[in-house]
Amino acid sequence: MLHFKTIIEPFRIKSVESVKFTRRDERETAMREAGYNVFRLRAEDVLIDLLTDSGTGAMSAAQWGALMQGDESYAGSRSFFRFRDVVRDLTGYAHIIPTHQGRAAERILFHSVLKPGDVVPNNNHFDTTRANVEVEEAEARDLVIPEGRVPSAIHPFKGNLDLAALERTLEQDGERVPLVMVTVTNNTGGGQPVSLENLRGVRRLCDRYRKPFFLDACRFAENAYFIKKREAGCADRAPKEIAREMFSLADGCTMSAKKDGLANIGGFLAMNDDAWAERCRNLLILTEGFPTYGGLAGYDLEAVARGLEEVVEEPYLRYRIRSTEYLHERLVAAGVPVIQPAGGHAVYIDARALLPHVPPLQYPGIALANALYVEAGIRGVEIGTVMFGLHPDGSETPGPMDLVRLAIPRRVYTQSHVDYVAEAVIGVAGMKDRLRGYRITKAPAVLRHFTALFEPLPA
Ligand code: F0G
Repeated sequence: MLHFKTIIEPFRIKSVESVKFTRRDERETAMREAGYNVFRLRAEDVLIDLLTDSGTGAMSAAQWGALMQGDESYAGSRSFFRFRDVVRDLTGYAHIIPTHQGRAAERILFHSVLKPGDVVPNNNHFDTTRANVEVEEAEARDLVIPEGRVPSAIHPFKGNLDLAALERTLEQDGERVPLVMVTVTNNTGGGQPVSLENLRGVRRLCDRYRKPFFLDACRFAENAYFIKKREAGCADRAPKEIAREMFSLADGCTMSAKKDGLANIGGFLAMNDDAWAERCRNLLILTEGFPTYGGLAGYDLEAVARGLEEVVEEPYLRYRIRSTEYLHERLVAAGVPVIQPAGGHAVYIDARALLPHVPPLQYPGIALANALYVEAGIRGVEIGTVMFGLHPDGSETPGPMDLVRLAIPRRVYTQSHVDYVAEAVIGVAGMKDRLRGYRITKAPAVLRHFTALFEPLPA
């Protein structure tokens, strides 16, 4: 019997979308007109778009077919019950509240349960999660393990929460902690997984201090697959069964179905607590919609329901994790500094290490992301000082790291696209001495990375 080493895409392509090739001078103009902020580019002018893996995936034929089954009734639609049953089968939670995306679930949860001065521990808050905590005048406290803060450190579960630090927080600030969160996988820390053992440790501490425990579950299936590959005793378990255990260790979750829901829009908030669920549903009605659609069309609920079934299929996850790892391997082999090991949904280039001549407050991540666009038409995103360096009091300090994230949309690009990306990154890394820093000319007070305007600094 033959044993194959090649891991192929577990699908064939039924419908294609052309990409537009541009010249370097056209991209230079586009970059200048965008205020040197890749969020402000027209997507049409991007050749390979690795800005995010959120809402950018390709739906399956089964999902497109399910759209036609959407029941658009305002209340009690059949699509809601299909969605609810799939989410409940996966998570086991009693209350399933649809939202239009992840941050809506965050806002509804935090606005319902936080008060000023509260503290929310997490391994690392994602930008919208942090902003939704801070807007309630609460503190978003990042407690990832020390290895999780060092790009070059290798650890199989680099997203783990530091249990000793959590215990200190619960001991010292316990009355100010309404809930504990863990993000799977840990996006801000490099798409790194959290182990079942670590989740069990968080559960034990939450039990001891009587705190509810919520997952930020955006990439739960990728996390489950890492557990299967890396955690003792899990090799023979199905990803779905591992995912169920992850959810069972928590009391609820926020979810963006734009990631591991394999949908272009959607999300949910789920939990066991009746009183919290009632508060959340009341706010949902005010800002999102009736509890059986929560800001989504009936057809969106169908697409998410089907996506949640497909995302835990093993051939899909094997291909998914391997294609990210493949890009990572090529960059490592060429000596490009990247977060180790490969993340689930993205490869993170360590721009601070690559561009030591650009200090953090001159935004090395922006310098690198912008060069990747101008030289190769590839759009990545800075996860660094621009995203995390501005504090609620208006002060600015270097972010924990200065990274450029190349996020891989699900089921969208083929291996030759990835080969092109590797060649481009290696090429740009080779001209690093020519890359310059930037200064901000205009920015809003929160979530500035989305809309800030920049200016290149003179050589
Ligand atoms: N939590 C995590 C860990 C995320 O990565 C995101 C979104 C959210 C919450 C919010 O979900 O976008 O549906 O409102 N991350 C995207 C990204 C935007 O590019 O990483 P949303």
